[in-house]
Amino acid sequence: MRIALTGKGGSGKTTLAATLARVYARRGFRVNALDGDPNPNLAAALGVPADEATRLRRVPREAILDERTDNGGQAHAHLARPLDEVLAEFGVEAPDRVGVLTMTGLLGAGQGCICGQHGMVREVMEQLADRPSDEVTILDSEASIEHLSRGTVRNVDALLVVTEPYYRSLETAGRVVPLARELGIERVWVIANKVRDERDRAAIYAYADSHDLEILGIVPYDERVAEADRRGRALVDHDPTSPAVVAIAALADSIAARAGSAAPSAG
Ligand SMILES: Nc1ncnc2c1ncn2[C@@H]1O[C@H](COP(=O)(O)OP(=O)(O)OP(=O)(O)O)[C@@H](O)[C@H]1O
Ligand SMILES: [Mg+2]
Repeated sequence: MRIALTGKGGSGKTTLAATLARVYARRGFRVNALDGDPNPNLAAALGVPADEATRLRRVPREAILDERTDNGGQAHAHLARPLDEVLAEFGVEAPDRVGVLTMTGLLGAGQGCICGQHGMVREVMEQLADRPSDEVTILDSEASIEHLSRGTVRNVDALLVVTEPYYRSLETAGRVVPLARELGIERVWVIANKVRDERDRAAIYAYADSHDLEILGIVPYDERVAEADRRGRALVDHDPTSPAVVAIAALADSIAARAGSAAPSAG
């Protein structure tokens, strides 16, 4: 199962990506966490200590994709070698054995765009389509709706559009969802994060109703998230019973139930 997260800056993509990853890993799934943000911080959110995270190296295209041209001149990409090898060479292991890879990174000041890296992420996600049902790949992305125009998040089983309960954040979701549907992504779900009260809830549902958005879940505003951040810890390690973790764990179950992966321990 392949899941990507998108949404406005600061909406909570990385917090949700990391917490979902750790929850799935604890449910018995084998989890790959791919950081598609050129300003990466998924490893930290997963609980990888800072000194260990320095071992992460951006995965170069040729290390993960093998490109061949067929007789008709059509190029086809395949995984160049087992993902485990790529993880061992370029990645790190987060707690609960979550494999972390950094997929994108700036080339340097004034060195131009990184469209090629986004293309690589799209192709790698395509290659991960037929993985065993007990494997989950989670792609965190930068706050940009260009993922949709570039098609970076095209090849996923579920796209989670994370929004905060205020109008400008919801507007981003309102722009992203139709683009994602145009890309042909079947499961495009909105997750409302940092929801404080009934008024927030009502605002989200009103916006969703009038813009044809499907809300999959609500994650409450939770002081524990900032606390975990301040202490450089993963949220699930800081407080596994916090309201945000409980909500994200419920989300993990409904995504798996609806996107087709039963929990290995349940089967
Ligand atoms: N449910 C929550 N309750 C309280 N604070 C939260 C919650 N979710 C996220 N935050 C806080 O919001 C901030 C942004 O979170 P996060 O980094 O996960 O967002 P993001 O969408 O990945 O941001 P960016 O667009 O910069 O990548 C962080 O300070 C985080 O601690
Ligand atoms: Mg982020």
